[in-house]
Amino acid sequence: MTREEDALETGPLAKLEQAAGKVRSIELQAEQGCTSQVRRVSTETGTYILKSATDSRYREWLRVEAERLRRNTGEALLPIPKFAAFHEETDGSHLLMSCEKGTTLTAALKAAPPEEKKALLRSFGRFLHRFHERPPVESLAHDGDWLEERLAAARLYLERGQSEGDGKLLDELVRNRFAPVRQTMIHGDCTADNVMVHDGEVYLFIDVSGMTIGDPRYDEALAIGRFVDAPELLEPFYEGYVRYRISEAELRYHEGLYEFF
Ligand SMILES: Nc1ncnc2c1ncn2[C@@H]1O[C@H](COP(=O)(O)OP(=O)(O)OP(=O)(O)O)[C@@H](O)[C@H]1O
Ligand SMILES: [Mg+2]
Repeated sequence: MTREEDALETGPLAKLEQAAGKVRSIELQAEQGCTSQVRRVSTETGTYILKSATDSRYREWLRVEAERLRRNTGEALLPIPKFAAFHEETDGSHLLMSCEKGTTLTAALKAAPPEEKKALLRSFGRFLHRFHERPPVESLAHDGDWLEERLAAARLYLERGQSEGDGKLLDELVRNRFAPVRQTMIHGDCTADNVMVHDGEVYLFIDVSGMTIGDPRYDEALAIGRFVDAPELLEPFYEGYVRYRISEAELRYHEGLYEFF
């Protein structure tokens, strides 16, 4: 047993083995998110990613992520990892999913020379364009308005002291809504950290707890947020993402909203 296997208590490990077969090795992933601990697990049936959360809010997000993956069945498959198992203990939740090829776009960009960076951003734009243009899948359908729900959730996080945004900003966001656009499938946390690259192409979303039907301008804002002051990267993105180009004000609005999550 490695140190990692020791660290994972026997309860989750046994459940894991029920779903994925006998464990051969468990390693902490080099790239870690902020909300969970991510391990790569090799078993007799293949290689998986095990994402574990202990904080109650992040456990809830992980439960929703598991549900998104689990319901991704049928013919119109979304480009997201495959569900393997989800297990809730008293002090932690654990999601087991397929380990997908490649690296995050963030990691790919770090390693790429300038011309390749442009190609990666073009690919990111194309990938997001295709996703926003697809007819929404049934399993993401929900009642109510996406923005209303996000603003209400922001208020709740703020009241509980779980959010970095401030009350004045939230009041402005509530007052200054834009005219609605046609709602599409959205990823909901569409940064370069949450898309995977293989063979030079962006091809998959990870971290999908926010995936729903909502305002595509939110995805667009998060996708370009880090590149707005780098036209040599922004322009290639828009060669791929040709369906709409958000205004400065729309960008600021959606970045403001993101501060609460
Ligand atoms: N299915 C997968 N296949 C391969 N690698 C993955 C997979 N899921 C996650 N990873 C790796 O684990 C890292 C963290 O995953 P993820 O973004 O889901 O975690 P997180 O804690 O939710 O992050 P965040 O703080 O952004 O919410 C990713 O950067 C990626 O390197
Ligand atoms: Mg992430």
